[in-house]
Amino acid sequence: MPSPLEGRRIVLGVTGSIACFKAVDLASKLTQAGAAVDVVLTRGATNFLTPLTFGSITHGPVVTDVYDPQSELSMDHIAMAERADVIVIAPAAANTIAKLAWGFADDALTTTVLASQAPVIVAPAMDANMYEHAATQENVEKLRERGVVIAGPAQGRMASGLVGRGRMVEPAEIIELTKIALGKNGAMAGRKIVVSAGGTEEPLDPVRVIANRSSGKMGFAIAEAARDRGASAVIVSAPTALPDPVGVRVVKVGTALQMRDAVFAECRDADALVMAAAVADWRPVTAAVQKMKKGESDTWTIELTKNPDILAEASGDQLVKVGFAAESEDLLENAQAKLIDKGLHLIAANDITSPGSGFAVDTNKVVLLDREGGVEELPLMSKYDVGCRLLDRVERLLGR
Ligand code: C5P
Repeated sequence: MPSPLEGRRIVLGVTGSIACFKAVDLASKLTQAGAAVDVVLTRGATNFLTPLTFGSITHGPVVTDVYDPQSELSMDHIAMAERADVIVIAPAAANTIAKLAWGFADDALTTTVLASQAPVIVAPAMDANMYEHAATQENVEKLRERGVVIAGPAQGRMASGLVGRGRMVEPAEIIELTKIALGKNGAMAGRKIVVSAGGTEEPLDPVRVIANRSSGKMGFAIAEAARDRGASAVIVSAPTALPDPVGVRVVKVGTALQMRDAVFAECRDADALVMAAAVADWRPVTAAVQKMKKGESDTWTIELTKNPDILAEASGDQLVKVGFAAESEDLLENAQAKLIDKGLHLIAANDITSPGSGFAVDTNKVVLLDREGGVEELPLMSKYDVGCRLLDRVERLLGR
């Protein structure tokens, strides 16, 4: 399954800021993800880096001047503007932001932006005082109102040694925002997809919980894949070590009961629910208010009560319901039974004993079973790709 950046054409505008070095990494990552990158450097940027730096990485055109006779596109800078799927300006210094806000076209970059209809992402990078200045703030606001995505800037230590808001956000975040911009009008635009992820934790006392080995990776990957095709994606997440994905709302919960409440609330206006969370089937009847002492006894008996089945109980107008069945034996029979019992449209049967599958790893091997008896066996693939294949099916169900 290709990356959402594969074959897409990106104009990377780079302006004069010490954060330029991060633009080299960004150009490299975009190129590695399969994008074709056209680079436009302002004169300020060429004080820090040369066109050769970028050209060696992107193997594509690097433009510095509208009138440069050496440049492949110099005679027709409009061509670069027109073929762009998205324009990313990173780092964007105060001067370029001001020019963009007011519609100047006095260099190759501002001219390209003005001549293009592609979405624009701007990652400001400058001294904190320059960023906080009323003039810059007004200019940034003007761009935002016009639909430009403003990435950051981040708070932290800057090249000057001062600490403040003005650091360019990391390339990884800009890449996520680029995927979002490219997928904005995708097949799931206007749809809300709720995904549960992670393993719930059931408290025994204030410090101990009954937990499980779910990493949350599968659910997070599905939500990112939904986001990348234009959906409004929400993760109801039990504790995980994963960072919140860019452009996805994350509702954090602990126990199965909390997850149920959050999932039901989110499903009121959702189109689909994908339960990828490992929900504890049981919880302690009572959780001790104080930390349990070791005491005299050699044993500790805990009484458990059953948790509600969130997926089985979830309902909504036309809600498409998708489950996972993590099994270690009789994979298809058990998954089929769950599909029926829980009233699902689709279930991903997941043999957790198969190599590269299941918890913690970045890959998974699943079989998709549907209500009509359809069986689609997918090869071992990344969890993001599993998410894509699963969402292809959800899209079809939504289009009924
Ligand atoms: O635990 P089980 O194998 O029945 O889980 C199958 C599906 O049901 C999974 O998608 C899981 O997230 C969901 N589930 C749930 N509430 C539970 C248990 C499981 O929604 N209490």
